[in-house]
Amino acid sequence: MTTTAVNPYLDGNFAPVREEITPTNLKVIGELPPDLSGMFVRNGPNPQFPPIGNYHWFDGDGMLHGVRINNGKAQYRNRYIRTRGFNIEREAGKAIWTGLMEPSRGNNPYNFPKNTANTALVWHDGRLLALWEGGEPHAIEVPSLETSGAYTYNSKLVSAFTAHPKVDAETGEMMFFGYSFAPPYLKYSVVSAKGELLRTVPIDLPMGVMMHDFAITEHYTIFMDLPLTFSMVRMQQGKPPLMFERDRPSRFGIVPRHGDNSNIRWFESPPCYVFHTLNAYEEGDEVVLVACRMSSTSVLTTDMTPGENEGDAGRLYQWRFNLSTGTVKEEMLDDAPSDFPRLNEQRMGRPMRYGYTAKMANNPMPLFEGVIKYDFKNGKSETHEFGRGRYGGEAVFVPRPDATAEDDGWLMTFVHDDEADTSELVVVNAQDVTSEPVARVLIPQRVPYGFHGAWVSEEQLSASV
Ligand SMILES: [Fe+2]
Repeated sequence: MTTTAVNPYLDGNFAPVREEITPTNLKVIGELPPDLSGMFVRNGPNPQFPPIGNYHWFDGDGMLHGVRINNGKAQYRNRYIRTRGFNIEREAGKAIWTGLMEPSRGNNPYNFPKNTANTALVWHDGRLLALWEGGEPHAIEVPSLETSGAYTYNSKLVSAFTAHPKVDAETGEMMFFGYSFAPPYLKYSVVSAKGELLRTVPIDLPMGVMMHDFAITEHYTIFMDLPLTFSMVRMQQGKPPLMFERDRPSRFGIVPRHGDNSNIRWFESPPCYVFHTLNAYEEGDEVVLVACRMSSTSVLTTDMTPGENEGDAGRLYQWRFNLSTGTVKEEMLDDAPSDFPRLNEQRMGRPMRYGYTAKMANNPMPLFEGVIKYDFKNGKSETHEFGRGRYGGEAVFVPRPDATAEDDGWLMTFVHDDEADTSELVVVNAQDVTSEPVARVLIPQRVPYGFHGAWVSEEQLSASV
């Protein structure tokens, strides 16, 4: 007897959906608040064809899942992001590119990596961009979620584009970076509030590293040179090119927002990996960074089952980088495993009182059983649990129009019920997270687990270009 092992990322609610649907007037349990108006959109991998060889969760074609909310009613639509690689494979009727777990094969006539656009979203300068850290953003029309095409800032884009750019809510500027496994390993860019790519500068790193996120403060930008390194030498020796080097320190580089490599300051701390930052801000002589820290990571380096290694779980940490003494203090804020941190984005780069993370379930798969709300002023946290057999993802904070308090708004995430095999959009009052959701929008098709989302407000929808 033979058994076929099913890749866990192609199974259960990680499995892709095939239909693009547009149902209206969705059933709502509870009530959508009358002042909640806009569109929640979440990105994630959804391979359109069976993969060639091993599949990694990061490989799938990007699919957007959107819920338009208006006047207490909701409609849903899911759409693939039509990237160049997606269109070529659709034409061919099969997968052509191999994924992260497979060596690239000689039978691919296309001499470029497939940009899946599958990771995250950002709203800036009147448009929604779908992001993938290996290539350029894709502009997405709202509310249709149709793909306009690759977006290159009038051909000024000269690097890849992180999935986690940072928009300063006060100035409207957007900071981003692109990393590469060949020198220059890191390029840093600033886009003006009007959407003009103002400048791109190289930042020196000793070797190529996988850099998923960064942070900003009012005056500085913080890069994380962490020891998940890429080595051509290892690759030539038949070893994994990407490796977490346990004896290599973490380095944090702090550069003035409009500075360059000549005025960056580096701070060292024990080895770790960080996928996601929650926020950073300035306090006296210190730059404070809050992020989900892992003591190691195997997510891209060994087998495909994250969580086997206890060190793989993110935990909320704080680093204090003292710009006058050059010292760094690292402190764990909570030992509960969590990741996918978010905040009220009006506080991006400024001191924040609240933050929200996705609480990890005790499971070898990346399943999230609730949302943790942190009150950094009181050093307390509260958790919204999705309930037994129900798992969600990153919770996006949606501010209430005309809110006066930082946490006046809602938290939104898609939740999957394992037993019923159904999905819903859960809307939680951010000032009362331990209570039942104020609304559960039932989606008439499964929404696979995915990565990052964004809220596009009514104002933004009507001002979109
Ligand atoms: Fe991410």
